Amino acid sequence: MNHYNISNPTDYQQAYKKSVEDPKDFWEKIAKENFVWKKQWESICEHDFKEAKFTWFKGAKLNITENCLDRHLATKGEQAAIIFEPNDPKEDAQHISFNELHKRVCKMANVLKEQGVQKGDRVILYLPMIPELAVSVLACARIGAVHSVVFAGFSSTALASRINDCGAKIVITADGGFRGAKTISLKTIVDDALKETPAITKVLVVKRTSQTIEMIEGRDVFLQPLLDAASEQFEAEVMDAEDPLFILYTSGSTGKPKGMMHTTAGYMVYTAYTFKNVFNYNEGDVYWCTADIGWITGHSYIVYGPLANGATTIMFEGIPSYPDCGRFWEVVEKHKVNQFYTAPTAIRSLAKESLALVTKYDLSSLKVIGSVGEPINEEAWHWYDDNIGKNNCPLVDTWWQTETGGILISPLPGVTQTTPTYASFPLPGIQPCLMDADKKELADATAEGALCIKHPWPSMARTIWGNHKRYIDTYFSAFAGKYFTGDGAQRDENGYRITGRMDDVIIVSGHNLGTAPIEDAINEHKDVAESAIVGYPHDIKGNALYGYVILKETDNSPEQVKIEINQLISNQVGPIAKLNIIQFVPGLPKTRSGKIMRRILRKIACNEMDSFGDISTLLNPEIVEDVVKGKL
Ligand code: PRX
Repeated sequence: MNHYNISNPTDYQQAYKKSVEDPKDFWEKIAKENFVWKKQWESICEHDFKEAKFTWFKGAKLNITENCLDRHLATKGEQAAIIFEPNDPKEDAQHISFNELHKRVCKMANVLKEQGVQKGDRVILYLPMIPELAVSVLACARIGAVHSVVFAGFSSTALASRINDCGAKIVITADGGFRGAKTISLKTIVDDALKETPAITKVLVVKRTSQTIEMIEGRDVFLQPLLDAASEQFEAEVMDAEDPLFILYTSGSTGKPKGMMHTTAGYMVYTAYTFKNVFNYNEGDVYWCTADIGWITGHSYIVYGPLANGATTIMFEGIPSYPDCGRFWEVVEKHKVNQFYTAPTAIRSLAKESLALVTKYDLSSLKVIGSVGEPINEEAWHWYDDNIGKNNCPLVDTWWQTETGGILISPLPGVTQTTPTYASFPLPGIQPCLMDADKKELADATAEGALCIKHPWPSMARTIWGNHKRYIDTYFSAFAGKYFTGDGAQRDENGYRITGRMDDVIIVSGHNLGTAPIEDAINEHKDVAESAIVGYPHDIKGNALYGYVILKETDNSPEQVKIEINQLISNQVGPIAKLNIIQFVPGLPKTRSGKIMRRILRKIACNEMDSFGDISTLLNPEIVEDVVKGKL
């Protein structure tokens, strides 16, 4: 039996049971019957948790773009593959058919080849949400180059460090990007970044805003004339199942961002399979994920998962509040969206607006609504269910990570009884477990602990680019023989409920932020002696950042220093990492070994001042009272 389509609880139970008892046969059938391969595999899955070595579909040959494009041409060549909805609603939407997308990807692949890009080379994409971004992603995959998309909200410093880390030689960018009423000068940011990246020899530039930019001769080239001259044919490179497909950077709790490397076949099989089932996508449906392709959600569930299923996927250039806060719902009505997938932070901010901005639009096309990126609180869940899904669309609260490649825990429409704030049950092939502080698995049906996964799944990241040891240390060392997610969770009869990060990663508006790079930026200020940041609950962002800063002697006003600190963060990490509150403190609570006690700082920021626990073992217990007194 092929378990590719799950449409009722029995299907799910059978698929899940099969996937645990005989994972190889389970995935083999799905892979064989739903994808095109140039050569079959020698084995389905080989793994070694200790060394963190995972191989899926060993020896198989394929090209993911033939699965996303070529194989659909005969049956749905004229169907829209991508609907591009521009930032400005007055600009026409573009319906890009599979035929057209195929041609554009081949042309781009030819251009990249002419510019010297070869199989295995890394290509940085720093682009707004315009069709060229999806086209470039697929063009890289077609020639076997490894794409690394950097979210176009990141600063020049963040961009430069990613370029250098992955050793890219070429960047694809745009003159600028539209974002609501603003224009973002992308090329200028690239120019700044490239002062620190000696290996970059070519910058290909898409014209989007037509703003004035500097073009450096020999290095910078406008893309369009090259595309116009390129051939519409490009034979897809034969890729090994385990050849790298992309690197995507995510924050770690310490040090520089981690370049999560994903490979080809397992990623394709798992993202396609989960897209089909989590969204219950059926032929002819129009699907919309509002994420940016700069994040994993966009990779897996705007580009690869949908296109591998021959789906119509919307790419939205704009923001939810432009020209007003009814924009999402206007687009749902306009394109008769059937599946809508967004982030809790967007829901929370739109829920604050007048309901008239929702009721004005016909949302009756919707069949499934989804949430991703952070826990969705009960109030937001109900607002989304009542006003957008009209209590008539399953709300899928999908839990996963950049590292997992695809959704691991989620309700399935028509299958799972949904419960607010529960991501619910694992998808077939996923074996979650909860671990206690003694590293023992919690066997009871009701439990709370560290969320781990016991068996490999096809789309898991294979390594951290250039640092396999960090990959082992971060994910496979805390609990032997298991993948540690970094999240805590509860489990009961409703399934899994994610309680949040257990490390120093803070999720702000759905974006993972590590404390270390932000503190590094703060500490660069000449008046700052030391700093520590923590998260605290925020109505719209989910979490916001609270910074504790020790100042050196200075003549500058504290208000001025605060502005400059946020400017530094903005330049080095990006505007999303700015601090909401900055408190100047005389010292920071530390352990005797000198480690900052963030737990206490977190409690102060969250106004939980009555439960510090035993602080007598601190190096400087007296400082706690000072920090509490100065609380903002
Ligand atoms: O803490 C979890 C939270 O987001 C983290 C992963 O972030 P990132 O790699 O940026 O990927 C986000 C998009 C997949 C997780 O470790 N998270 C993600 N989805 C949920 C969630 N927390 C609770 N519920 C979710 N549905």
